[in-house]
Amino acid sequence: MKGSYLGEALPAYLSAHATQPDQVLRDLAVETTALHSDYAGMQIAPEQGTFMTMLVQLTGAKLAVEVGTFTGYSSICIARGLTPGGRLIACDVSEEWTSMARKYWERAGLTDRIELRLGDAVETLGALPADEEIDFAFIDADKGGYPAYYEALLPRMRPGGLIVCDNTIQGGRITDPDAGGNVPVLREFNDMVTADPRVDSVLLPVADGLTLARKR
Ligand SMILES: C[S@@+](CC[C@H](N)C(=O)[O-])C[C@H]1O[C@@H](n2cnc3c(N)ncnc32)[C@H](O)[C@@H]1O
Repeated sequence: MKGSYLGEALPAYLSAHATQPDQVLRDLAVETTALHSDYAGMQIAPEQGTFMTMLVQLTGAKLAVEVGTFTGYSSICIARGLTPGGRLIACDVSEEWTSMARKYWERAGLTDRIELRLGDAVETLGALPADEEIDFAFIDADKGGYPAYYEALLPRMRPGGLIVCDNTIQGGRITDPDAGGNVPVLREFNDMVTADPRVDSVLLPVADGLTLARKR
């Protein structure tokens, strides 16, 4: 379970005390584990999905962008929170993983709200029209790419728009000076966001850590 840095009992308690995922999301989680067991841990946690739908609703988002779609769990949570007529641009490099996402978008009745863009997200984001303001963005792809995704998104966000970044606590290892892997990269990213005068930000202990950066 994500959030084990909070101790043994608390993560399950937090997960149980959120609105629970519906049958579509539960089936998606099960099928992801069955077909891609080595990678299923990449999927966001259920309570994070509930929280993200709520954030999208609170932002009143009409246009959202996701960087890192995988089999589609977070994209469904985002798309469900959009205002009527809203749109999510979902970026990923994997045809195989996103084929499952497409199937579940169909089942969730969201095909008219989600556009998949296959390719390196730096290029996809760079090609987005500069005059179309984004209300909500979610960054959850390769961790080394976070600074580039953030810098590509921020100028396109409307004032008051929200960028949400996943995995910024790294299973609690973010404060361990000896930790390797993605930890040093994300520590640098967290420092970069905190020091950025263009946003107000907060790092929340939700699941594996969620950074919220609201454009000033
Ligand atoms: C952690 S998973 C995303 C999980 C997803 N948000 C969910 O809730 O299921 C990361 C995804 O980023 C994608 N990815 C990796 N590098 C990428 C890149 N350069 N551009 C776009 N997507 C990328 C991977 O293919 C993978 O599907």
